[in-house]
This record gives sequence, structure tokens and C-alpha cells, in this order.
Amino acid sequence: MKEVFGKLADGTEIHRWSLENGGTRLRVLSYGGIVQSLEVPDREGRYANVSLGFDSVEEYVADSPYFGALIGRYGNRVGGGRFTLDDTAYELDVNDGGNSLHGGAGGFDKAVWDVEPFVQDSNVGLRLTRTSPDGEMGYPGTLRTTVTYTLTEDGDWRIDYEATTDRPTVVNLTNHVYWNLAGEGSGSAHDHELEIAASRYTPVDAGLIPTGEPAEVAGTPFDFRRAKPIGADVRTRDQQLLYAKGFDHNWVLDKGRTDLPERAATLRDPSSGRTLTISTTEPGLQFYSGNFLDGTLAGPSGRIYRQGDAVCLETQHFPDSPNKPSYPSTVLRPGQTYRSTTVHSFGA
Ligand code: GLA
Repeated sequence: MKEVFGKLADGTEIHRWSLENGGTRLRVLSYGGIVQSLEVPDREGRYANVSLGFDSVEEYVADSPYFGALIGRYGNRVGGGRFTLDDTAYELDVNDGGNSLHGGAGGFDKAVWDVEPFVQDSNVGLRLTRTSPDGEMGYPGTLRTTVTYTLTEDGDWRIDYEATTDRPTVVNLTNHVYWNLAGEGSGSAHDHELEIAASRYTPVDAGLIPTGEPAEVAGTPFDFRRAKPIGADVRTRDQQLLYAKGFDHNWVLDKGRTDLPERAATLRDPSSGRTLTISTTEPGLQFYSGNFLDGTLAGPSGRIYRQGDAVCLETQHFPDSPNKPSYPSTVLRPGQTYRSTTVHSFGA
């Protein structure tokens, strides 16, 4: 189902699409490809919207910390907002201290996408397309991007990203849903248990740029190899946690970059019994514990969002890869196709 959700200041109509399959209900906006709500049942069959968001376009435009949005051209940070590729230096839009975050101030989350619905066998979905002009936010190359959201007959939400370019460039696409499996507006998500299939993570500097080589999680608050509550170690006096006000780091998935999606993390809410398992082709996962939610925004529930009221699990290549030759490459060249897939599976 397609309806008018609202209008941008320039009059552009923003649509909202509603899909349902396999027990999962998804609502997506043409603005930013935003997941405006995602509803799944708990162990008693009761539905709740498990992603943070807003009820109006105005709120998304004015002040959204990327709630539910598509992120491009580069998920997370590029240090100093600059990189060099094939001996040419590029200057990106700087919007986070001295760094470029999530593609710059006019990233994919602020763009209006073309949206086409489809039905394929027992799956339903939306195909979102957009051409980002050469030089947008400082990135080289005309980037033609297709993002496919599929709801499968099992109720999985699958994202397939594809992009091509006409000049050498860098690409790192992701999605920024804020999860609270007890329901948005229900309070802290720090009682959720999280498991991440990663023995290493990338430590950062004060500006949250990776310092270089990955470090072992063993013996640190960053060890999520066995499920533990997010709140268990988030208050440990640790320089990495002080820099980020909690967890806001890239985990180096043990499986590495894979052709098919493999399990990266599982999130579980003990109160509702809801679980979320994330599988991906990507080599990294940004786990962000909702550190910057500060009670200044309220969601569709009418309740305000405070620190830790949701968590993000963003599948990705590592932050600042364009400046880190030892990291898996994010370079895309003419003739190549960027491909990335992430599957969200729900249970209760
Ligand atoms: C990502 C970043 C965080 C923060 C959030 C949005 O997770 O790593 O530092 O910017 O997005 O607030």
C-alpha cells in the first residue's frame, strides 16, 4: 500500500509504503529510504514497532540521528573528510567534528528515492533507486544505486545493495535502524542480550576514527562472543568507552567478507522474547549503543528517547577504509558492481 506521508518544504510529496509478509510488517518512506516502522510479534503474538522513528516528514528533515535511514555514500566516518585515490585528493563534506560522517550533511538519508514495489514468488518488496551526481558531497563518480528491501515468506527483512560508477570512487552503504525489541519508547534497550561473532574490533581516537590495526576483544568490555546484556560492561572505565560515551565501534567479523550472508550478530530481549539475527556479506559491524540519544526527541509512541533506548547494528566495511590501505577495500571502479546483502531474521 502506498500513501502520502507528507511534503518537503519545496512541495515534493513523500510517500509511505506498507508491506507485510511472514508475520513482519514494514513501513518505508521515499525520503531517505527510511524504515519508519517495523513490527514483529512477541512470544504471545503481540505486535510492537521495534524501530525508533517519527510520525512526520518534518521531524525527519529537522533533526533525525539517521533513524531507520539508508546511509551513503559512506557509512560511518572518513577521517579529516578527505582521501586520496589514484593520486587524486578528494575533499568530502565535513559534518562531524573535523570528519565526514554517513556521507556528509546531504547524504543518502536526506535524498528522495524512486520506489517501485514488486512481488516475486512468495516474497514482496520495494526497489529503491537513485543516481547520485558526480561530486555529490565531494565523492567522485556518478553513482547509480539500487537498494532492494525484501520481506520473505519467513518474515525476514533482507537488504540488497548494488551500485555502479563512471569514475573510480569509494562506496560503503548501510542502514541505520535503531532497534528496541521491547518496542520503541519502552525505555532502555541495555537489558537486551547481544552476541557478536567477532574476536577483534577497531579501537578509535577521540574523534571515533580507527587508529589502525584491530585489537582482540578478549578480556575487554568489547567481548560479545558469548551473549551478554549490553548494560553489563557499558559503564566500565575504559578509554574506548569514554571516547564514544558507550559502544560506538566497528567489530571485525570473524567470517570476513563473504559472497553469501553469514551470521554476524544476535540481539535478544528477555522481556518480550523477541530476537533479531543479522547475517551479512560485509566484513564489519558497527555496534552503537544509542549514546547520543538525550531526551530531546520523541517517537510515535509519544515517549521521549533517552540514552541507551535503542541500539544500532550497522553492517559495513570498516570506518575510514579510504585512508587505511590494510583494511578491506571500499574502492569501486567503472565496470565493477558494488554488491552487499544483509538479512534481518526475527523470532520470539
Ligand atoms: C553512527 C555513528 C555514531 C552516531 C550515530 C548517529 O552509529 O557511529 O557515532 O553518529 O551513527 O548519531
